[in-house]
Amino acid sequence: MATKQNTVKPWGGRFTEATDQFVEAFTESVSFDRRLAPYDVQGSVAHAQMLARAGVLTEAESEEICAGLNAIMAQIEAGEFTWKPELEDVHMNIEAALVQHVGEVGKKVHTGRSRNDQVATDLRLYLRAEVAVVRSLLVQNMQALVTLAEQEAGSVMPGFTHLQGAQPITFGHHMLAWYEMLKRDEQRLRDGLERINVLPLGAAALAGTRFPIDRSLTAELLDFPAIAENSLDAVSDRDFVVEFCAAAALVMLHLSRFSEELVLWLSPAFGFIDIDDAFCTGSSIMPQKKNPDVAELVRGKTGRVYGDLAAILTIMKGQPLAYNRDNQEDKECLFDAVDTLKLCLEAYVKLLPSIQVKRDALLEAARQGYLTATDLADYLVMKGVAFRDAHAIVGKTVQYAIRQDKELEQLELSELQQFHEGVEADVYDYLRLQGSVAARDHAGGTAPARVCKAVAEARNYLSAFAGN
Ligand code: ARG
Repeated sequence: MATKQNTVKPWGGRFTEATDQFVEAFTESVSFDRRLAPYDVQGSVAHAQMLARAGVLTEAESEEICAGLNAIMAQIEAGEFTWKPELEDVHMNIEAALVQHVGEVGKKVHTGRSRNDQVATDLRLYLRAEVAVVRSLLVQNMQALVTLAEQEAGSVMPGFTHLQGAQPITFGHHMLAWYEMLKRDEQRLRDGLERINVLPLGAAALAGTRFPIDRSLTAELLDFPAIAENSLDAVSDRDFVVEFCAAAALVMLHLSRFSEELVLWLSPAFGFIDIDDAFCTGSSIMPQKKNPDVAELVRGKTGRVYGDLAAILTIMKGQPLAYNRDNQEDKECLFDAVDTLKLCLEAYVKLLPSIQVKRDALLEAARQGYLTATDLADYLVMKGVAFRDAHAIVGKTVQYAIRQDKELEQLELSELQQFHEGVEADVYDYLRLQGSVAARDHAGGTAPARVCKAVAEARNYLSAFAGN
């Protein structure tokens, strides 16, 4: 005797009632996971090809399935595909369309797999592609920073600690500090690929399958160098999502630090740089204002990406093996992290070349604040004074200069000699800003000549990404 069934759902066989509409809306993911469609099709094509080689499907069946999947993908790309929320997710939407397109044989595509290993595979394929885009954007930013560093290799500015003028540095050197941060970010993302590039397919729902599948072949077809070694782990592992979100959070941390400095530097209180009008916005009430909104928004969006990381960590926390529906929540935070990161990196690719450095203002700022006091102490050490004593002597000298309202290099030799009789005329090489930066000509130093060398090394490093 035939029993009543839920005929809409591919899984409706054991159900006698239709799904509650609220539950349908609550559980669907196609509204956001449809962006996985190209990877879902790619994964299904590889799976069908493997099934044919393993003798589970005939060659003809596999070919029909693959042709149908490709036709569906063309429809999706053309915007002619109707996504149905009642079919829950991207996987069941595409499978249902396949059956409609190629008939009964379409029902065979899901042999020996489950949506659990399917979605894990899709997500890895998706993330692998996005990591390539993010890495290329990072490299473009690194290139822009190197260009700025080269232009401003000799531009002296105040270097800060505690946001107090500390010692003179060059603007080029400062740009290369930013470059180093992005270099690590690119390396971190590249390193994560090893753990993204692992094939879950074959794990099926959780326990593997009794069909004679060939997982190495599927891995080869999808260009995965490794296969997940445990079926339970394969369907439930989202470490690679956590790792990506963590790497993305670090990129955003770096971008937010750049942003903060640009905001400060553009403020008339600093006046170190100008940013093209096209990259700033005005105030609706204060006519004089030119605001660095792009930098501020990047700084603000950092919060979103930190939120994405916190979300995925918390989603995964405490889940028992193997797959749980909680995992469906991995997508929106990952997608948001990817989108936000790409957007902010793109903003910086455009923003960096629009920065104009106000060299005179930098120099003027460096002249204030006794930034070569440490150089004077070094000078005394060179003359045989112990560093701690030299520190105290220079402290007194600075106190005197403040009272005289003079910079250190404006003090007469006789005035300097009041504090230590060993001071001679060569001291001015130590007190002048150019002399101070030029002397720091060691690996990692701020000397203009060293910045030029570092620029050449960076260019050489980046040349490996030429095809990127
Ligand atoms: N939409 C689901 C997800 O994103 C696909 C896997 C569903 N599996 C299941 N057993 N209900 O995780």
